Amino acid sequence: MEIDFVRSRFIKHFDGKTGNVYASPGRINLIGEHTDYNGGFVFPGAVDKGVMAEMRANGTEDTVMAYAIDLKDRVDFKLSDPNGPKASWARYIYGISLEMKKLGVPVKGFNIAFAGDVPLGAGMSSSAAMESCFACGLNDIFGENKVSQWDMVLAGQATEHNYCGVNCGIMDQFASVFGKAGCLMRLDCRSREFEYFPFKPDGYRLVLLDSVVKHQLAGSPYNDRRNSCENVVKHIQAKHPEGKFETLRDCTWEQLDEVRAEVGEEDYKRAKFVLGEKDRVLGVCEALNEGDYEKVGELMYQTHEGLSKDYEVSCEELDFLNDIAKECGVTGSRIMGGGFGGCTINLVRNDLYKQFIATAKQKFNEKYGHEPKVYDVVIGDGSRRLC
Ligand code: GLA
Repeated sequence: MEIDFVRSRFIKHFDGKTGNVYASPGRINLIGEHTDYNGGFVFPGAVDKGVMAEMRANGTEDTVMAYAIDLKDRVDFKLSDPNGPKASWARYIYGISLEMKKLGVPVKGFNIAFAGDVPLGAGMSSSAAMESCFACGLNDIFGENKVSQWDMVLAGQATEHNYCGVNCGIMDQFASVFGKAGCLMRLDCRSREFEYFPFKPDGYRLVLLDSVVKHQLAGSPYNDRRNSCENVVKHIQAKHPEGKFETLRDCTWEQLDEVRAEVGEEDYKRAKFVLGEKDRVLGVCEALNEGDYEKVGELMYQTHEGLSKDYEVSCEELDFLNDIAKECGVTGSRIMGGGFGGCTINLVRNDLYKQFIATAKQKFNEKYGHEPKVYDVVIGDGSRRLC
């Protein structure tokens, strides 16, 4: 995306003046799904697609004038309005502004125009890209950049919780803020320690196949999964008052088995997936250190199986894409992100790539009447000011 594209709209829709331009990426995740809010590990990286925003203080006390370039939609609102704007995209601006204020940033009225090239509803975190982009701009314009990167991550997450109805974890906002070109990051979501992993798989590449089934995390299904996990932790805590069980990270397989009957099969299966996924992320790290991509791929397939059968966040189209990958001999493939639609992430040998993409397009088209979209993964940088 070009700065000039956003700038020309900013000039046209407001008072002709220019502001500062900020960019934040969407993300991929190699493995570690639905583990973030369970205190486990994730393995994301930022992508070369994201959100770009031009922003400028407009001299008012608390009037925000916002223009969503892609939607051609203008919304003005006051930060002091307790209800905030209705348009879902504008709620991200409203929410992050209030969260940054809570962190001591004296946010006043501003103008903002933004656009994005991270596909919406594809499980690549377009919403985290918005939150971290706007947070980065507000921190710079009103806050002398005093808010730390981690606090911006948490402000983005709080925006989802408090204004958008998604009780998400911290993976997406973390990846969007901390991303680094060429590197994946292994994050321990309990301690928040992380390390950069240069990712240049010799002879392989990562590609996303977008089912174009729009995933929608707001509302019940995502939050339901989280509630199931928390319910299991509660039961384990009750059985072991001597211990401290905050998330499933603190629980063992034996403890999970002990509460199986009381929590019921659905919650049991969901927690079982999470415990397995925690181990798989560590397995992938080990395999990467040894350059064993076949092992990485095997673990990715196991994750898909678990997300589909136990966690129940897949859909017919994603399972179909996963089956095609298997049939084509693709090294690893699985649902990426929250689920309920969106993409699969595929680890493919270079020599198989062309044939895999052609087969997936053809078979998917035969069955669903349209081709999946294909995004080659390029691992890019995190949130930053462009000019
Ligand atoms: C969404 C959430 C994340 C994470 C993933 C699943 O992207 O925003 O916090 O839980 O789903 O791994």
